[in-house]
Amino acid sequence: MKKHERRKKADGVSDTSSRSYIIEVERRMPGGADPEMHVQAFFYDMQDSGDTVAAALREINARPELTDAQGHPAEPILWESSCLQKKCGACAMLVNGEPRLACDSFLRELPQKIRLAPLRKFPLIGDLQVDRSVMQRNLREIRLWMEKPAELWEETAEDAYDASRCLQCGLCLEVCPNFAAEGSFTGAAAAVPAARILAAQPGKEQTGLKEQYRKRIYEGCGKSLACRNICPAGIDTGEMLAQSNAAAVWKRIRKRPRRR
Ligand code: SF4
Ligand code: FES
Repeated sequence: MKKHERRKKADGVSDTSSRSYIIEVERRMPGGADPEMHVQAFFYDMQDSGDTVAAALREINARPELTDAQGHPAEPILWESSCLQKKCGACAMLVNGEPRLACDSFLRELPQKIRLAPLRKFPLIGDLQVDRSVMQRNLREIRLWMEKPAELWEETAEDAYDASRCLQCGLCLEVCPNFAAEGSFTGAAAAVPAARILAAQPGKEQTGLKEQYRKRIYEGCGKSLACRNICPAGIDTGEMLAQSNAAAVWKRIRKRPRRR
């Protein structure tokens, strides 16, 4: 039995190979030859039950003569990816209006007409690719570095581990009502890594980070918790915020509720 047949069987998907998809892509190249947004559709035949939106985009772009669903010549689709394993966060985009990772969006779980669009909260580079450098800038500006060697504290080790799983994908910022790329509020994408540093040094150190945390995170967060269930790494951003608020604002270690 071939690998893809085994996977189909394991997934309980009986006949995925015959599923055809229409993938609609919002296309625009600001300042380029294609400055107005328009939608271009492409046909894609599912190859395997493990196919994702990322796999479809790679296959479409690899076609020697790319044509759209109407048979018109098309330019390769601009999008970003690296690991293809839900580890780097590069492929964040809107899939049928939902902020998701393309490499974690399985076609078998999606309708046969899929609409892809870029994240809206970041400046557009082109098609599905956005400029998320504001996230790295925010991390630098809030002084997200260790001022002393890290220590392992039993009370905060679990928080430090959870926070270290952040991919910097920006999906939590996409759904945040208070985040804007040009604003000073950094959102959960900085609050989560801050929680990792604060968990490793919950004492008197990190005063610069704590001050920035209060200004750029605590005072800007409206506590909507819109980011709570969006994280592809499964980070409970609400819990992370509670932990780092305690360390940075109330200057105490919060005992984390036991997981059920
Ligand atoms: S907290 Fe989650 S959603 Fe936000 S940037 Fe990190 S990995 Fe992405
Ligand atoms: S390509 Fe790395 S998370 Fe999707």
